[in-house]
Amino acid sequence: MTAEVSAARSGTFRIGGDIEVNRLGFGAMRITGPGIWGEPPDRAEALRTLRRLPELGVNFIDTADSYGPDVSERLLREALHPCKGLLIATKAGLARTGPDRWIPLGRPEYLIQQAHKSLRNLGVEQIGLWQLHRIDPKVPADEQFDAVKQLLADGIIRHAGLSQVSVREIEAASRYFRVATVQNRYNLVDRSSEDVLDYCARTGIGFIPWFPLAAGDLAAPGSVLDDLARRHNAAPSQIALAWTLKRSPVMLPIPGTSKVAHLEQNVAAVGITLSDADFAALGRAGRQASAAARGDGD
Ligand SMILES: NC(=O)c1ccc[n+]([C@@H]2O[C@H](COP(=O)([O-])OP(=O)(O)OC[C@H]3O[C@@H](n4cnc5c(N)ncnc54)[C@H](OP(=O)(O)O)[C@@H]3O)[C@@H](O)[C@H]2O)c1
Repeated sequence: MTAEVSAARSGTFRIGGDIEVNRLGFGAMRITGPGIWGEPPDRAEALRTLRRLPELGVNFIDTADSYGPDVSERLLREALHPCKGLLIATKAGLARTGPDRWIPLGRPEYLIQQAHKSLRNLGVEQIGLWQLHRIDPKVPADEQFDAVKQLLADGIIRHAGLSQVSVREIEAASRYFRVATVQNRYNLVDRSSEDVLDYCARTGIGFIPWFPLAAGDLAAPGSVLDDLARRHNAAPSQIALAWTLKRSPVMLPIPGTSKVAHLEQNVAAVGITLSDADFAALGRAGRQASAAARGDGD
C-alpha cells in the first residue's frame, strides 16, 4: 500500500449535523508516555506525527484531559495551533493518579472545571466536540448530564458526546442534551457494541470505535483476514480498519499512534476497497471471534 492516500477518501460525516469531518480520524492517546502518563518517549516524532495529520487529510482528532494528563492536549496545541479546519474533540470524567490508573470522577463541578482547562490547554475559544469519558456510577447520572447541558448553554462546548455507554444511557442523556457522538470500544473482533452502533446509525449519531486496529487471533496465518491482507498487499490492521469503515456510514474510527510511518500506513487503509463478499466473510469471522471471547457461543 502506498502512503499518499488522503483520509478524505473515507467519506465525510457531519458531527451534530453541523461540523463536517473526514470519517477516518486520529486518536491522540498514544502520544504520551507509558501507561498514558507523562511525556512521550520520542517527543519530536510525536510532534512530527501530529503535523502530518492535516497533510494526510485527517481533520478529526480525539484526545482527553486525562491523556498524560494534559500532555496530549498540550502537544496538539504545540503542533497544530490555531487548528484551523480541524475538529479536536476532547473528553473529561476520569481522574488520574498514576500510569494506567483511571478513576471515574463525574462531580458536575469537576466536569465543568476540566472542560474549561481543556479550552486553555488546546488554546481554542470553544471545544467543537466534548465527550463525557465515563458515566461515574458514584454520582447521579442526571447531575453529570446537567453539567454537560450547562457547558453547551454557556458555549464552552459546541457539541457533546458520550463514551462506553449502552443504548439506555444514550436515551437517558438525550433528555438533557443532543448526543452528537458515542465512543465505545469496537473492532472487527469485539462486537459487543453492535446494538449501540445500530442505534447510532438509526438516529444519526456519530459512532467512534476505539481500539479500531485490533484483529486478535484473526490475523494468524491462514485466516480469512490473513488471506485478504495478502491479496491486497496490506497489513492485517489495515484490512481491519477498511472493514470498520465499510461497516457503517456513521463510523468514525480513530486509530492512534506516536509514529509517522504507522500513521501513514493507517491512513493508506482508506485506499482498500473490500468486496461485499469479503466484507461479509470477514464480518462473520470477527463476530465468531467476538462471541468466543465473550464465551456466549454466538
Ligand atoms: N473512550 C475511551 O474510553 C477510549 C479508550 C481508549 C482509547 N480511546 C481513544 O481511541 C484511540 C484509539 O485507541 P487505541 O489507541 O486503544 O487503539 P488503536 O488505535 O487500535 O491501537 C493503537 C496501538 O497500535 C499501535 N499502532 C498504531 N498504528 C500501527 C501500525 N500501523 N502498525 C503497528 N502498530 C500500530 C500503536 O503503537 P505505536 O504508537 O507504536 O504506533 C498503539 O500501541 C485512542 O488514541 C484514544 O483517542 C478512547
